[in-house]
Amino acid sequence: MILEGKRLLITGVITKDSIAFHAAEHAQREGASVLLTSFGRVRRMTERAAQRLPEPVDVLELDVNNSSDLEALTASVRECWGALDGALHAIAYAPEDALGGRFMTASAESATQAFQTSAFSLKSLAAALAPLMPSGASIVGLDFDASVAWPVYDWMGVAKAALESVSRYLARDLGPKGIRVNLVSAGPLGTVAARGIPGFEQLADRFREQAPLGWDTSDPAPVARTICFLLSDYAHAITGEIVHVDGGFHAIGAPVT
Ligand SMILES: NC(=O)c1ccc[n+]([C@@H]2O[C@H](COP(=O)([O-])OP(=O)(O)OC[C@H]3O[C@@H](n4cnc5c(N)ncnc54)[C@H](O)[C@@H]3O)[C@@H](O)[C@H]2O)c1
Repeated sequence: MILEGKRLLITGVITKDSIAFHAAEHAQREGASVLLTSFGRVRRMTERAAQRLPEPVDVLELDVNNSSDLEALTASVRECWGALDGALHAIAYAPEDALGGRFMTASAESATQAFQTSAFSLKSLAAALAPLMPSGASIVGLDFDASVAWPVYDWMGVAKAALESVSRYLARDLGPKGIRVNLVSAGPLGTVAARGIPGFEQLADRFREQAPLGWDTSDPAPVARTICFLLSDYAHAITGEIVHVDGGFHAIGAPVT
């Protein structure tokens, strides 16, 4: 069990479909203890999902944009475990006008909100948790390949480009403390966040056609297993990395007919 004895904080579970739910499930099966976070209106949904994990777990309050929630998170994790071996950032949000083909008309406020919640928040979470982390700890975030422009992804794509950069700067600043920071760049998966993106299905079709290994939008297990690997000691010399888990889509320029 590659996560035996690890204490992990997992954000971003809203339903059983959430990538973070599958990460938590796999992490428990690999021997980890898990705490989840959620906030506001969706907390009840997270609590329901938390009961469906192999080991039901507690849910801590965290709106990642709220500094008092971040302070309370540090205190709660310290009280619960004293220290923390790893964290998953699985948080993204963009207002409606920032997605779905309205790139040229989205407001600065919407673009800024997408950046704050989806990219800056990795720094906020890392800053709140790093004081609890021993050397060897690991922080993982979730990316959608931001090296190219996509249909409909718009300002969320720009926020993901920022997330990629934030993870490299965190790797720089936390590396000397022995804390690793990496991203998993996942292919499209049918979660609440993804279904909220108009045109998601067309994008998913392209992955099915073009990925040399094929791509199943209903199977989050390959992404969840890679998250577990990056949280584990097997990845102890990896930081500032982006691991693509997309059936190989990113490596191929056009579908092979
Ligand atoms: N589903 C995909 O196709 C796909 C592909 C690549 C990357 N990702 C990324 O995976 C991550 C998880 O998304 P998902 O697809 O599992 O969807 P999801 O809707 O299940 O998860 C998104 C989570 O973000 C949380 N969140 C939003 N605003 C927040 C805030 N202010 N504070 C704290 N939490 C907040 C929501 O509560 C939710 O739990 C996101 O970063 C997403 O961009 C998803």
